[in-house]
Amino acid sequence: MKMWAGRTSGDIADCVNELNASIGFDKRMYAQDIAGSIAHAGMLGKVGILTQAECAEIQQALQVISQEIASGALPIDETAEDIHMFVEQVLTQRLGTLGKKLHTARSRNDQVALDLRMYLKDDAGEICALAHGLAEALCDIAEAHTETVMPGYTHLQRAQPVTLAHHLMAYVQMLLRDLGRLRDASARMNVLPLGSGALAGTTYPLDRQHVADALGFAGITQNSMDGVSDRDFVLELAGALSILMMHLSRLCEELVLWCSWEFRFMSLDDAYATGSSIMPQKKNPDVPELVRGKTARVYGDNMTLLAMMKALPLAYNKDMQEDKEAIFDACDTVKLCLRAMTPMMRSATFHPDVMKRAAQAGFINATDCADYLVKRGAAFRDAYRITGALVKTCIDKGCTLDTLPLANFQAASPLFAQDVYAAIDLLTCVTARDIPGGPAPGQVKTQIAQARALLAKEAL
Ligand code: ARG
Repeated sequence: MKMWAGRTSGDIADCVNELNASIGFDKRMYAQDIAGSIAHAGMLGKVGILTQAECAEIQQALQVISQEIASGALPIDETAEDIHMFVEQVLTQRLGTLGKKLHTARSRNDQVALDLRMYLKDDAGEICALAHGLAEALCDIAEAHTETVMPGYTHLQRAQPVTLAHHLMAYVQMLLRDLGRLRDASARMNVLPLGSGALAGTTYPLDRQHVADALGFAGITQNSMDGVSDRDFVLELAGALSILMMHLSRLCEELVLWCSWEFRFMSLDDAYATGSSIMPQKKNPDVPELVRGKTARVYGDNMTLLAMMKALPLAYNKDMQEDKEAIFDACDTVKLCLRAMTPMMRSATFHPDVMKRAAQAGFINATDCADYLVKRGAAFRDAYRITGALVKTCIDKGCTLDTLPLANFQAASPLFAQDVYAAIDLLTCVTARDIPGGPAPGQVKTQIAQARALLAKEAL
């Protein structure tokens, strides 16, 4: 029989039980649920709804329950409806009537809103720490490759020379924004909904701020109906995680390409690659592929949450119970992906020689060749046309701009001199892009230092 039996018999059909129960997935919030109850009981004692002795007894019993669940001594009864009911049930078994007093001035509606906020605050913190670790790993790799020239691409066609450091630091910028979004989401999550009751507050003289202080919340929710029916904090986190996964999947897509024989810019450590059951020569980049694939899951979780909340009337509706599986899955997935990505990146081997060869082959210094003419007085459009014709000559002759004889350059324009070769040298081309945000080694070093300083401030 259900604890809420009264108006109805509480004898629900088995299929309804199965549909209704959330203990299978909300049991992971037991520590938050109990911490919330301990703070609630403390406040009930403070305002005189419980005596000090009652309050102490409840709090102590709750501590023991929490420890027993953690150690496994108290198995969670999967037939209990949800974690809130389970904890209250055990408390009541142990304390009798006193246990039944805990739920005074509280509803499961504000209780679950509290538990989820507390749980996700912790999870967001963990995810920040992991994203932070990946950003640091990328900074470390970048530090070693500020002069490793590689082709930069547009349309996946070789475009202009950059360095591996510059390329990787683009992802660090993305991760820094991800950290900012996670921090913002955590800040808005950081208000206490307890005291909202079922939806209309309570007639008891609760001290909500006291509970907020006890649980480390920065403030309290301002409207009881919103307090129990707001799931923006779940959605904001899911949104931030979706964007974070989008960044990881873009990086992973590049890693898959870079590990291919066609690119061969890098090799993954054997611990982060798999073989094929039939093709003996294969070393497959499953980890980046899986991270790319799992991005879809997180987007799906995000969509589940948006669709679930759409058009829900105020205040609490049972639809909202669906929030937990979606956001837990998103958080678990992101944590797992980040845990695999960081050591995979740190243990990977990059091949600067192959990158350089690729950079030499795609006429990616053609813009620099045109710029050479502009610096000697040509109009950019003329310089562009002359260089285009030179590229065509190279293709016909089967050479590159670097190996094209000076006579060919000078036939195209009298402005060319011997120093053109130095001007279109790949490292010179990169070094010349010496503007804030550009790939010149000095600029990228500054970029790395700035990123590291921001990461140090973000340190959790
Ligand atoms: N298990 C429920 C949930 O996750 C707790 C709140 C139940 N509230 C209610 N009015 N039945 O949403």
